[in-house]
Amino acid sequence: MTTAMSRPATDLSPEQAEARERIYAAPLESLDPANPDRFPTGEWQWVFERLRAEDPVHLTDEKDSEFGRYWSLTRWEDIQAADTNHELFSADGVITLARPQTAQQTTSVFDDGTMTEEEKRRRQEAGIRSLLSMDPPDHDIHRGAVAEGVAPASLALLEPLIRERAGAILDSLPIGEEFDWVDKVSIELTAMTLATLFDYPQEKRRQLTYWSDVLTTPAGPGQPAETEEERMKAMRDFYLTMSELVQRRRGEEPRVDFVSLMAHSPHSVNFSEPELFGDCVVLLVGGNDTTRNTITGSVYFLSKNPEENSKLRANPALVPSMVSETIRYQTPLTHMTRRTTRDVEVGGKVIPKGDRVVLWYVSGNRDDAKVENPDSYVIDRKNVRRHLSFGFGIHRCLGNKLAELQLRIIWEEMLARFPEITVVGEPKRSHNHFIKGYESMTVVIPRRN
Ligand code: HEM
Repeated sequence: MTTAMSRPATDLSPEQAEARERIYAAPLESLDPANPDRFPTGEWQWVFERLRAEDPVHLTDEKDSEFGRYWSLTRWEDIQAADTNHELFSADGVITLARPQTAQQTTSVFDDGTMTEEEKRRRQEAGIRSLLSMDPPDHDIHRGAVAEGVAPASLALLEPLIRERAGAILDSLPIGEEFDWVDKVSIELTAMTLATLFDYPQEKRRQLTYWSDVLTTPAGPGQPAETEEERMKAMRDFYLTMSELVQRRRGEEPRVDFVSLMAHSPHSVNFSEPELFGDCVVLLVGGNDTTRNTITGSVYFLSKNPEENSKLRANPALVPSMVSETIRYQTPLTHMTRRTTRDVEVGGKVIPKGDRVVLWYVSGNRDDAKVENPDSYVIDRKNVRRHLSFGFGIHRCLGNKLAELQLRIIWEEMLARFPEITVVGEPKRSHNHFIKGYESMTVVIPRRN
């Protein structure tokens, strides 16, 4: 039998080869693919490579993971099949593989200090809901309320704005000296776009970035929120700001920003506080880290693959194709989670009703049964738009066209300005099993003689 381990692992450093061996030597049943330590080191690749080959529908037991018991789908076909079957794989109440929420987390966002114990208990039971954690018909109502914000007509209005801002950001970059690409370009451009999507004051755009970072990162030293109290306060601030904005927009003429759309949707008066909060969170986070990390990833992957870089510079018409390949290769959201509505057989195993199932897009995108030479970054590969990074089915990314648009514009503007961008050392990657990305990446734009 050919196992994944018997396939040559090309281009690995001695440390990587050793890490891969360690993963293959570990007892299969103890593998916890969600372990966040594996994402900054790149070890996730070998965990999933092994699972796809040896145990594609994998159960991680309660005792082996800080995230509790869950099933992993690691092959493309299984992920796509589950993602397109919301009747068997429900999104109700689940989005990511999160640590069990504390009572404090689900109540304190909404607690103005007057909540009774009974109210707190009920709020805790109800949890936080959003379009991404709902099944039809609620999902369709919530998605329908905001979809126009990223519809083709809205994107056509956004395009010149994004281009102007991208140009201004690039023109302000230092030449011939080191700087952090993540902060100066990737965050700046996505924050500006987000502020526009929410019609939020541009001068306060970094607040949106901060809230998004806080929402996706557990509290801890060196993290956006150092303590759980700080994190709770930031979440509550975001919630209060959004509900106030929605109230204000209700008294104004309808426009196509997300907040105005929500405020004027005939259904939104019936949205509960946790639903309003949840939708705003998904719109905020959905448009932030994902695009930001793909922008950074594109610069990094092209610097690591000089042949691909030369292809792109020789033929800028490859930008859209490079963008799609980067979205596959980066897979900025590693997974989504579902819950089975009855016993379901997948790949010869029975997943019991009510269990959590993780759709590992990051693994499916590297499945060689579906993608030729999947561990290579090839900007002009065949069927380049065919990847799992935006999901499938009714929850397929609402902002996928906007994400591609931002990536395309920033690269068109970069190619027009800089013949070279040099990455210095290795980027600092995020310690996160959901958002796969970069905290910082030092680059230099060489001075032209
Ligand atoms: C490269 C960038 C992006 C990636 C990789 C990405 C990925 C995803 C994924 C994997 C899902 C869930 C799909 C599923 O469950 O089947 C999703 C949903 C969503 N995304 Fe994105 N996203 C990106 C950019 C954006 C942008 C720019 C926005 C704009 C606001 C956005 C808004 C949303 C929303 C609102 C949903 C929920 C859709 C629903 O539940 O119906 N995303 N995205």
